[in-house]
Parts: sequence; structure tokens; C-alpha cells
Amino acid sequence: MIVGMDVVNPNIVPGLQGVYFTESKISDVDGTNGKLYYRGYSIESLAKDSTFEEVCYLLIEGKLPTAKELKNFDTRLKGEREIPEPVLSIINGMTGKAHPMDVLRTAVSALPAYDRKAYADSREDNLRKSIALVSKFGSITAAIGRRMSGKGYVKPDPSLTHAANFLYMLKGKAPDPNDAKILDLMLILHAEHSSNASTFSTLVTGSTLSDIYAAVTAGVATLKGPLHGGADEAALKMMREIGRPENTERYINDALGKKERIMGFGHRVYRTYDPRARIIRSTLEKLQNHSSPEVRNLTAIALREEKMMIEKLGKTKGIWPNVDLFSGPVYTSIGIEPDLFTPLFAVSRIPGWCAHLLEYWEHDRLLRPLESYTGPLDIKYVPIGKRR
Ligand code: CMC
Repeated sequence: MIVGMDVVNPNIVPGLQGVYFTESKISDVDGTNGKLYYRGYSIESLAKDSTFEEVCYLLIEGKLPTAKELKNFDTRLKGEREIPEPVLSIINGMTGKAHPMDVLRTAVSALPAYDRKAYADSREDNLRKSIALVSKFGSITAAIGRRMSGKGYVKPDPSLTHAANFLYMLKGKAPDPNDAKILDLMLILHAEHSSNASTFSTLVTGSTLSDIYAAVTAGVATLKGPLHGGADEAALKMMREIGRPENTERYINDALGKKERIMGFGHRVYRTYDPRARIIRSTLEKLQNHSSPEVRNLTAIALREEKMMIEKLGKTKGIWPNVDLFSGPVYTSIGIEPDLFTPLFAVSRIPGWCAHLLEYWEHDRLLRPLESYTGPLDIKYVPIGKRR
């Protein structure tokens, strides 16, 4: 009998909760102590001292770069920013009703058609494609944002960082350096998170020895859901439904009474405050005096939700704020529309997906779990004309 294949007493683990499927040196999520490390570096230290480009190098190459290595990596990233013309036509041709995540998924899945070595699969080839993907996810998402607001494509500016260039391509004007810094921080915080659902589905696709474009397309599809990456957009929607800070307690009590989930809270691994949310919270504190009344209002609601949920469910049930709670007010403060939040999560997470694929392919093993069949067997086949 194959290990784990006990047909009579199958060991079923719903949601694969608590199941280890591989070893990895990419990140460590300590859900008990609320710690997160990328390649051994604490998220707090990277958030304080690093840049998204440096974090991408760290995740993909496995170590922090020297100044020369970073310069070379950055040049390669910048050289990949352009979107192939037919992919731009796909983005601009999709109807306004499609969610931006569907447009992103479709655009990403078309990229291999415009890569002459799309199916070359040495580590070097996949490294090149990883750099191209990190770069193009930003440009594609900015182009989707332009299309959503009925404006034309803005070509990338090679003098700008990844975060600043994203804002430039989105808005068509040089970004405020502080906004670019905030976005850079958000990109770092969302870049990697172990075997979360979208990374896992990326690996499921990659484990069949399908190519990197197909695998990250699966990642985008998985990230979209409101229990995962889509929670940031859903959390903001909830804040807008709450409307005013003083409505927060009533809204949450009503929702919990109806057994609804409060978006931006709870996590499969963290049973304490998500360390990424803690870092974003310090940015949020500064937004309490922001010039926009909408940002001030959202910030006040988010902070009231945080206080109330910690008192109600934090200590009793281990439901604490997660990374998606504070994204809404922060992204709103830098002029990003809610339906671009989740695509922006993908822009952040693409280095993590690529790093995991590169690592997993070093010892690939097809991911193929079991399900225990509980239906009937040997039912007599009745021809269609005789069925009632
Ligand atoms: N609001 C209210 N109750 C909750 C919440 C929440 N956000 N999250 C979990 N619970 C309750 C849940 O109803 C259950 O209660 P009971 O034991 O009475 O049935 C209990 O807590 C345990 O929940 P669970 O479903 O077993 O927990 P899980 O590990 O499957 O859920 C989760 C993890 C993230 C899906 C869940 O917490 C959730 O739905 N949160 C809201 C969506 C969200 O913010 N997602 C972003 C996650 S972080 C970013 C990312 O990784 O994408």
C-alpha cells in the first residue's frame, strides 16, 4: 500500500490545514508568535531598510544583492517593463465589466506568445522569465487601471523605481515620492508568504512541469478570491458600507450575529496579530490627519474595527487583524481605486510565486493528493431513453 492511501480509514485533513507538503528556504511564517521572515530576514527589518527590487532579488536569488548585483538586476527589470502590443490590445479589448483580476489573468496567460524562448526551461531561462514577470505584472496592472478610467496607455519611465514607475504609468504624471515610498512598503509586505493558497496553486500547476507562465496564471486566479487576496477589496467595501466611524460597532455586531466574516480579520496560520498588518498600521496612524476626508474616515473606521474585533474575537478565538485590514485606507491615500487592490497584491506576490517555482523545480514531485470517494458503486447503467 502507498503511504497515506488507507482506503478504509483515510486521513482527511479539510483545507489541508496543518499539512506540510514540502521543505522550503524562502520564508518562515510563525503563526504563534506573529513573526515573518524572508530568507531569514525579519519582515520588520526589510520593511525598514530595504526596497522592493532588493526584496525581489533576495527571494528569487536567495541572498541580499551587493550594490553591483542590484544595479544589474534593476537594469534587467527595467528592460522588461514594456508590454507586448497584442497583450495591450487584449487589455484594452476586454469589456469594462470584467474584474481587473480577470483582465490581469488573461493578459498574463497571453505573455508566452510574445516570448521567443517561452518554453525553454533551464534554471537560467526561468530566472529570466521571473524577472520579466515581476516587471510586466506592474506594467500590465497599471495599463488595466488606465483602461478602467478610460485613459490611454502610459509608457514606462526607466528613470523610476518599480513602485514609482507603477504610479507614473497609472496616473500619467510623476508620483509624489512619499506615495511611491508607501507603495514600495506595501509591495515588500505582500511579496511572499510561504504556502498560501495562490502559491500552492502555482506549485500544483508547476509540479506538472507546465511552464512558469501557466503556473503564475493559476496563482492570479487563486489570489482573486475574497478569502485570500480579494479580502483587501472586500474589506474596503465593508468599510464603505459602515459609512461613518460611529456605525462600526453596530455593523460588526449585526454581521457577526448573522455569522458573516469580517474582512481583514483571521488567518489560517496566524493566531495572533499579523506582523504585516502591524507594520501597515504605523502608516495608517499618520493618515489620521490626512488632507482627504475620505481617507480620514476610512482610517477611523479601520481603527475602530481593529479595537472592537480584538476585544470580541482576538483573545477568545484567535481572530486578529490580517494584512488586508488596513490596505484600503492606505491605497486610497495614494489614489488607487479599490478594484485595483487585488491586482496590486499580485504585482507584489509575483516574486514569491517565481521563487517558489524555481525552488520546487529543483526536486519536482507531482502534487496529487487523494479524495475519499463516498458515493455509490456499481449502479446499473440505464440508456437515456429509458431514464425517468
Ligand atoms: N470574521 C468572523 N469570524 C471569523 C473570521 C472573520 N474574519 N475568520 C474566522 N472566523 C471564525 C469562523 O467563523 C470560525 O468560527 P466557528 O468556529 O464558530 O465556526 C472560526 O473563526 C474559525 O474559522 P476557520 O474558517 O476555521 O478559519 P480558517 O483558518 O479556515 O480561516 C480565513 C482563515 C482567512 C479564511 C478566515 O479567517 C476568513 O475568512 N477571514 C476573512 C477573509 C480575509 O480577511 N482573508 C485574508 C487572509 S490574509 C491575506 C491572505 O493570505 O490572502
